[in-house]
Amino acid sequence: MKILVTGAAGYIGSVLCGMLLEEGHTVVGVDKLMYGGKSLLGIINHPRFSLVNSDIYDTENYVQYIDSETNIVNLAAIVGEPASKKLPEETTRTNVDATKKLIKLAIEKKAAKFVFVSTCSNYGLVPEGEMATEESELHPLSLYAETKVQIELYLKDVVKEALNWTVLRFSTVYGLSPRPRFDLTVNDFTLHAITDGKLVIFLPKTNRPYIHTIDAARAVKLCLEKPEESKHQVFNVGDNTQNYRKIDIVEAVKNAVPDFDVEYVEKGHDLRDYAVNFDKISSILGYEITKKVPDGVNEVAFAINSGMIKDPNNPEYYNA
Ligand SMILES: NC(=O)c1ccc[n+]([C@@H]2O[C@H](COP(=O)([O-])OP(=O)(O)OC[C@H]3O[C@@H](n4cnc5c(N)ncnc54)[C@H](O)[C@@H]3O)[C@@H](O)[C@H]2O)c1
Repeated sequence: MKILVTGAAGYIGSVLCGMLLEEGHTVVGVDKLMYGGKSLLGIINHPRFSLVNSDIYDTENYVQYIDSETNIVNLAAIVGEPASKKLPEETTRTNVDATKKLIKLAIEKKAAKFVFVSTCSNYGLVPEGEMATEESELHPLSLYAETKVQIELYLKDVVKEALNWTVLRFSTVYGLSPRPRFDLTVNDFTLHAITDGKLVIFLPKTNRPYIHTIDAARAVKLCLEKPEESKHQVFNVGDNTQNYRKIDIVEAVKNAVPDFDVEYVEKGHDLRDYAVNFDKISSILGYEITKKVPDGVNEVAFAINSGMIKDPNNPEYYNA
């Protein structure tokens, strides 16, 4: 397959590109390298990989790679609530304007497939005891989630049958990647338990689903392998067992990090609280995860304790 991956140098993109190359596919990455491009050093000389260093808005820089055999995976975005708060104009320009431009180009070139990576944080708040399904109402609580919802609606209500699209609403991702991120809950808790010996946890009982970088990339690959089954579908990506309260993540960290203190604070600014149901992707695409939260805690602890990552406070590992 020919696959164009936007956001190729990012936390998920760099894992996905490596995985697609291993499977024998031809991959073009498009990325403006906001956090550098070291994540692609391992594949930059691969004979089936090309990198276009460009803003996705500037479609003229990569239009030559798109034809009726091209599968497009759109990961490029300003990612996360803090980053979207810090860069509101860039968030709207990339996550909405540039993404629509890319979708229009995909339609014009009759691209084989368009996978739009969205987020379960679109659900925002789900009543206690309930799990959001793909049919549940969306309550985006940040500019980041609002922009993701806008593109989902654009695909469903405007693009409709004009393109073979799929929306993947990812759980919050954890684990290692060629571009590590330490601003995501599981990785952040593990890092600070080790380096500070203390965690301060705000709103400890809030719930959210989590997924490993490898399993996030596997879900994209599965959509590309099952273009008809995934056509015009929205899927939550994760596993019912991986809805974790922050307090449960702390328990997982305790098994990997022997000695640290925890302070729980019953208030905080991030009000997102949502458990999610993942039956649809399992029943339609046969998707199953291969890793669980404790695996991510263990690998992040290993990377820090072993000196594999010596500079976890490097700004390259944070989105805001
Ligand atoms: N990480 C998560 O927990 C998570 C959860 C749900 C959904 N997602 C989605 O997955 C996708 C990837 O997330 P990530 O964690 O890998 O983020 P990331 O920030 O690590 O990667 C994003 C990449 O996009 C690039 N980029 C940003 N704006 C660009 C532009 N205008 N033109 C070209 N490149 C641009 C950046 O340079 C970066 O390499 C995003 O769409 C995000 O919304 C992520």
